Amino acid sequence: MIWDTHAHLDDPLYSEDFEEVAARMKSAGISRVTNVGCDLPSSERSVQLAQEYDFIYAAIGIHPHYAKGATDETWAKLLLLAKQPKVLAWGEIGLDYYRDLSPRSIQKQIFIQQIMLANEAGLPIVIHERDAHQAVLEIVKAHPPKSGGVFHCYSGSWEMAKVLMNLGFYLSFAGPVTYKNARQTVEVAGHAPIDRILVETDSPYLTPEPRRGKRNEPTYVREIVKKIAEIKNLPFEDAALQTMRNAEIIFNTRHKV
Ligand code: NI
Repeated sequence: MIWDTHAHLDDPLYSEDFEEVAARMKSAGISRVTNVGCDLPSSERSVQLAQEYDFIYAAIGIHPHYAKGATDETWAKLLLLAKQPKVLAWGEIGLDYYRDLSPRSIQKQIFIQQIMLANEAGLPIVIHERDAHQAVLEIVKAHPPKSGGVFHCYSGSWEMAKVLMNLGFYLSFAGPVTYKNARQTVEVAGHAPIDRILVETDSPYLTPEPRRGKRNEPTYVREIVKKIAEIKNLPFEDAALQTMRNAEIIFNTRHKV
């Protein structure tokens, strides 16, 4: 039983072999996947996939890359989607100062607006952040998510992780924790309490070792569990079960699913 808490199975890279990807993941013990939206169409697609497949759950939201395209109509539609069954989180939202595809002032404004919408909808948030550690921290301190949140593909410092956990965040680890240069991320995973850790693939991106560079898929979340188990000196099964339980808590599935 493993929960891949962040994937993009609506990506066209799976259009040829989606059913095979799903079958492989089931036989590898991956029992749940959260499909995460980045814009309105992918959020709608995530909800659709959650309706079609029992193992898929949805997160909806506007990624900072697409912040400049959001309008009042976008928010109205997302609020309706938020009420659909199996919608567990608002995301991915945040700041991306690496690619800067939307102006930073708009990224900030749209990020804050979505934290407030998530609060209104009663959903935890899923944060995407690149090269914007300090700015994200300032925003979540000033506008704390009421239902907590997940910091997706965590790459920050241990100092920042402590602040985030105090605000109710879970740290989600992806492929980069398996990479050779991942010293800081491994250190954070080492310090973080096991009951605050989630695992994810971010499929089709961020493929873990030993397949780095190829297309990712939920089955490979086993490599992340393996790494967390190794860092924490736990049996694989315990790391799988604990991260699954953590996901059940932050995504509040006992009440909703
Ligand atoms: Ni993602």
